[in-house]
Amino acid sequence: MGTRGIEIVGMDVNELIATLNRAFSDEWLAYYQYWIGAKIVKGPMKESVIGELLQHATDELRHSEMVAGRIIQLGGTPVIRPEDWYKHTNCGYEAPENDFVKNILEQNIKGEQCAISVYQKVLALTREADPVTFNIVLQILEDEVEHEEDLQSLLEDFELMMKHHK
Ligand SMILES: [Fe+2]
Ligand SMILES: [Fe+2]
Repeated sequence: MGTRGIEIVGMDVNELIATLNRAFSDEWLAYYQYWIGAKIVKGPMKESVIGELLQHATDELRHSEMVAGRIIQLGGTPVIRPEDWYKHTNCGYEAPENDFVKNILEQNIKGEQCAISVYQKVLALTREADPVTFNIVLQILEDEVEHEEDLQSLLEDFELMMKHHK
């Protein structure tokens, strides 16, 4: 915790920490949703889907580290109990009860779209007040936008393939 670094934040620091802890909870749940999805997914194009899901899982875990680092810099504590992720999350967790490739892609697209909306709001909140958080969140948002596109491209290829097999 650096005192001058915290003093320059032009907004309620506790509110900012709470906002970041919600994003932190989202990232862990997103990480697990990708990780378990990659383990159990079934159906056509499975191999390329697994590759993408694992890549995204790695990115979400890295995001949770980036957000945790900023929470600690601000003098806060990242959520310490996994059960509390559910209390803080914006985007929730969708269990891949249907393990078919199309369902898993659709669930994760929904998650990415939620993440994009959440980070867009955090950017608006911090744009003037806290350029350090703004910069971290901008890097994360760039990844989430890429994730959405990766998954939608895979889903599009999947739909095309199914159409040609009829
Ligand atoms: Fe993320
Ligand atoms: Fe993502």
